[in-house]
Amino acid sequence: MLAVSRRSPLLRNSSYALYRSFHINLPLKSDFAFVFDIDGVLIRGKKPIPQAKPALELLNKNKIPYILMTNGGGVSEAAKAQEVSHITGFPNISPLQVVQSHTPMKSLINDPNYKRVLVVGGDKDNARKVAEDYGFKDVTMPIDIVRNNKSAAPHSMYKPEYFEKYSKDIDTSIPIDAILVFNDPRDLSSDMQIVQDLLNSNNGLIGTKRDFKSWKDHTSPSIPIIFSNNDYIYANDYPLPRFGQGAFRMLTETLYNTTNKLKPDQNLDSLILGKPFKLQYDFAHHILIDWNARLEANKSHESIQNLPKLGEIPETTPFKKIYMVGDNPESDIKGANDHGWESILLRTGVYQDEDYDSIIAKPTVGVFDNVEDAVKTVLIDNGIKV
Ligand code: G3P
Ligand code: MG
Repeated sequence: MLAVSRRSPLLRNSSYALYRSFHINLPLKSDFAFVFDIDGVLIRGKKPIPQAKPALELLNKNKIPYILMTNGGGVSEAAKAQEVSHITGFPNISPLQVVQSHTPMKSLINDPNYKRVLVVGGDKDNARKVAEDYGFKDVTMPIDIVRNNKSAAPHSMYKPEYFEKYSKDIDTSIPIDAILVFNDPRDLSSDMQIVQDLLNSNNGLIGTKRDFKSWKDHTSPSIPIIFSNNDYIYANDYPLPRFGQGAFRMLTETLYNTTNKLKPDQNLDSLILGKPFKLQYDFAHHILIDWNARLEANKSHESIQNLPKLGEIPETTPFKKIYMVGDNPESDIKGANDHGWESILLRTGVYQDEDYDSIIAKPTVGVFDNVEDAVKTVLIDNGIKV
């Protein structure tokens, strides 16, 4: 294992090569690994990208470690692994290989500032189940607040049976500590209204409003808000890119900034997770190291995962190179380049060749037609026959 230097997180350090050559009796370990984006790389909406299955098979055959890192979410890591397996037809994906946009929120479950959280987004009440499964003890969703008083969201599209199945009674006298946006809103008008109410509330108490004049820093909301991803657009099976959670973030900021009469150079304070941010790449790096260690110890079936603290940088890594394979220059490629990984851009998703000159970050390895071509090229570059 090598120490990760600050300047060059993923080593250009020759001591690793020496280590390998002096330990010839050890089983060959890969000194490179892959991190795959999901939408636009392995699948598009509910449709497979046909080259995904052979690409993953090739990696398994050659014992090259990899994980998946998506800005999507709203379901458990196990459900996402199952969905990708089902759509691609590649059965061997473990939940421990999946980092969704909200996965790092697992690291907040014991933080006293996140006792009662408002979880926003996703189908039905899946995000509530995910948050509870992570270990959050008291999870409210906007639908619970609307159930309590329908006038709170006058344009809500929730049907009576929806309230019946997916909402619960809540004690509105206990304040909400923080807002966690797990996924894109489904009932946008409810989510928009309830989130704004709480950002401008009296310390997170539902149905109250903070005193505008006595609130000193108006960029600071009454309770913190964490967005789990910033994708303005993403690729599903529709021919054009679709708006993602980043669009909800913009909407939230615009409404908050207007309500609080912020100046043009001011903005709502928030934390944004997901690609391209360092926090997400460091978290995924920890998960990749953990997964690799399991593979080497033949413990990939065990379900307890070693989780880092939020924002913790891996101190050591067995990898000389990590290849991020993505379709979105703004998230996948920018994040990889900014944080010392190699980057590979594919033509199977958001990216279009005519945009190459104007994309925010250029891939370090190159642009490829699909994930299989990219994987083959990297394996060959690393001396593996394909
Ligand atoms: O909502 C999904 C999206 O924002 C992007 O997913 O897998 O391309 O990071 P992915
Ligand atoms: Mg993508």
